[in-house]
Amino acid sequence: MLPLHELKGEEIYRIRVACAFLFSVEQARDDAFVARLDLERVTRAFREKAKRYHPDLHRDEPREMIERRKERLLKVMDSYDLLRSYLRTDPGREGEPASAEARKRLIAVGGAKGGIGKSLFAANLGVLLSSRGYRVVLVDLDLGGANLHLYLGKTYLPRCINDFLEKRTPRIEDALTETQYGPGLIGGDSSRFGAANIGFSRKIKLIKSIKRIDADYVILDLGGDTSFNIIDFFLSADIGIVMATCDPAAYLEAYNFIKVALYRKLNRIFGEESDLGLKKDERLARLIARVTSPADGRRAIPMSELVEAARKEQPQNLFLIQQVLQSYRPKLVLNLVEDQSIMMDVAGRIQEVARKMLSTTVDFVGCLPLEAQVQHSARTLTPVTAQSPQGLYASHLAAIAKEVGIRTGV
Ligand SMILES: Nc1ncnc2c1ncn2[C@@H]1O[C@H](COP(=O)(O)OP(=O)(O)O)[C@@H](O)[C@H]1O
Ligand SMILES: [Mg+2]
Repeated sequence: MLPLHELKGEEIYRIRVACAFLFSVEQARDDAFVARLDLERVTRAFREKAKRYHPDLHRDEPREMIERRKERLLKVMDSYDLLRSYLRTDPGREGEPASAEARKRLIAVGGAKGGIGKSLFAANLGVLLSSRGYRVVLVDLDLGGANLHLYLGKTYLPRCINDFLEKRTPRIEDALTETQYGPGLIGGDSSRFGAANIGFSRKIKLIKSIKRIDADYVILDLGGDTSFNIIDFFLSADIGIVMATCDPAAYLEAYNFIKVALYRKLNRIFGEESDLGLKKDERLARLIARVTSPADGRRAIPMSELVEAARKEQPQNLFLIQQVLQSYRPKLVLNLVEDQSIMMDVAGRIQEVARKMLSTTVDFVGCLPLEAQVQHSARTLTPVTAQSPQGLYASHLAAIAKEVGIRTGV
């Protein structure tokens, strides 16, 4: 429902223009029609219009006509975005600043499995941002390997995320422990039932609670787990960082993490977790499943085949699939780097395979050198960024933060 009476005249005008693009001029003028709109209805109209104007569906037409379709499609997309922003019902976003830059505050760190420096990176990123004056909260969601607290100088946690998951504390903030290095910490306890194992409704509640944490930046340490819940935490973040090293085992795992997350994102187009407000479409769900879970022994199917199949069989959904693919931009960080040329080679390879097989752009946002001092800091439970704020690790970290769009210069 659109509360027209609460909106300013200028906003109502923009809403009417958007309605004219997605529906008709007559309907856009009809107050009762506009006020009754919901996300489902708007999305349905968007899909129909996207099908009508999508240039890929009319490849045989003259160039001029295709250009006109493109222009119209852009208007339809803008209209959809505008109406969606008014109709969005996700309470996790309530009260958030509207600008895209200001919204980039939830950062998730995942990637290859154990021992490649993910937690150390998350902890030090938190310390760095905190030293620049930001209020930072770190959350340990790593099942089985919860050790973020150690990297923030804490050997004992009086409370942790399990207190919230097991309903001993009503608010997630009650599970927070202050640290001497700046960031607040919602720590984990590997010996107990972890965040990766919780059921659907508790996961939704956890994601909403995390999004509502009152801080400038919230950093999630996910570990290298690719279970559904962990991947869902990754997808809920504004910035998804995938960490690897130059070892084949690690970068293949990191690629796998990127792939599993994309498959999950595609399979979640529908249903409660989708922000598109769509009812499940069985035919599209089957089409996506065909590409994302090929039968045993079959080769991996490139995403371009999904796009092509959608173009032929599901033109009304082509745009939706392309939107998911385009909006998925994992950020790659390589750690323990000793040789720059090997590093560039590894990053290039991951990017190329992701482009070819997943139609995904992976942004390579930087590296961290292998440093004896870092190893030592991990042993002495003192963040290296606090110990040597001008050191090599800290300066690389600052460069990465800048590259992913975090404003570090306060
Ligand atoms: N840049 C680095 N240079 C040297 N050692 C590092 C670096 N990054 C991580 N390490 C070492 O790797 C160990 C594992 O790091 P950790 O962050 O716990 O990995 P993960 O979270 O990926 O399991 C650390 O204890 C530290 O000794
Ligand atoms: Mg870890």
